Amino acid sequence: MKVLSCNSNRPIAEAISAYLNLPLTSASIRRFSDMEVFVEINENVRGEDVFVIQSTSYPANDNLMELLVTLDALRRGSARRITAVLPYFGYARQDRKSGPRTPISAKLVANLITEAGADRVLTLDLHAGQIQGFFDIPLDNLYAAPVFNKDIEEKYNGDDIMMVSPDVGGVVRARAIAKRLDADLAIIDKRRERAGESEVMNIIGNVKDRRCIMIDDIIDSGGTLCNAATALMDSGAKSVAAYITHGVLSGGAVARITASPLETLVSTDSIMATEAVRVAHNIRQLTIAPLIAEAMRRISDENSVSSLFN
Ligand code: R5P
Repeated sequence: MKVLSCNSNRPIAEAISAYLNLPLTSASIRRFSDMEVFVEINENVRGEDVFVIQSTSYPANDNLMELLVTLDALRRGSARRITAVLPYFGYARQDRKSGPRTPISAKLVANLITEAGADRVLTLDLHAGQIQGFFDIPLDNLYAAPVFNKDIEEKYNGDDIMMVSPDVGGVVRARAIAKRLDADLAIIDKRRERAGESEVMNIIGNVKDRRCIMIDDIIDSGGTLCNAATALMDSGAKSVAAYITHGVLSGGAVARITASPLETLVSTDSIMATEAVRVAHNIRQLTIAPLIAEAMRRISDENSVSSLFN
């Protein structure tokens, strides 16, 4: 088993390598002056079971290209099996035609990863489970829920918590956590009745005097979450926090969150924290590295991965 890291999230790769007690395979992944990606693997990988770690986060296209070129280098280096480990799978939100003459970019990216040389994929909280079917190679989709559940139990022990899905699309995800923690569930239904009119937030469930915890897979601009936090507080919630797997946090998201009524935003380290995230008073990262590392070990040993879902 060999573990190699591209450049988008070195800290998680180093944590995975420490957990597995396996040094990262030496490789140089660099740019020519015109920004073309060049990869050179400095160790023999012939016949090896190789795992490449890369989140296709910001800058998404550069990081995706780094992954593709690395997969190609490994395939041409005669690796026996190559697993693309994507703690965050970018482009996942473009999983269907959103209008006439628009692409399904998640499928295109799946094709690119497969074509570049991946034999399997390991990822975390895919935006939509069906994306697994975009790959014709095996894909393991891990869940951050067990890590979140443990943290929520520690932090909210005994408190009157209420899990909240910030939109109708996320109900299944939030309900799974509510069920596991034996907590109630509320749902926010966002509607824009007419074009040009502002969005109305209807909260399904009584959140008065409850400590609300929103669950979602992605926070990007922070708009969904901050608006939902305000709506919950306006409806009498005692406090509002959020557990979100992937902290994309683009544009002014961090400023928006620090100015919002959110008590805490907890995300995983599937995307490397920027300096702004590190110093934000109400953002915290939980590491997902042990879960990913354990899944990698089990894949390599041909053992079950599904027992990690509990
Ligand atoms: C949408 O379906 C996702 O689950 C997230 O709710 C969304 O991507 C969040 O985006 P933003 O933070 O930009 O509102």
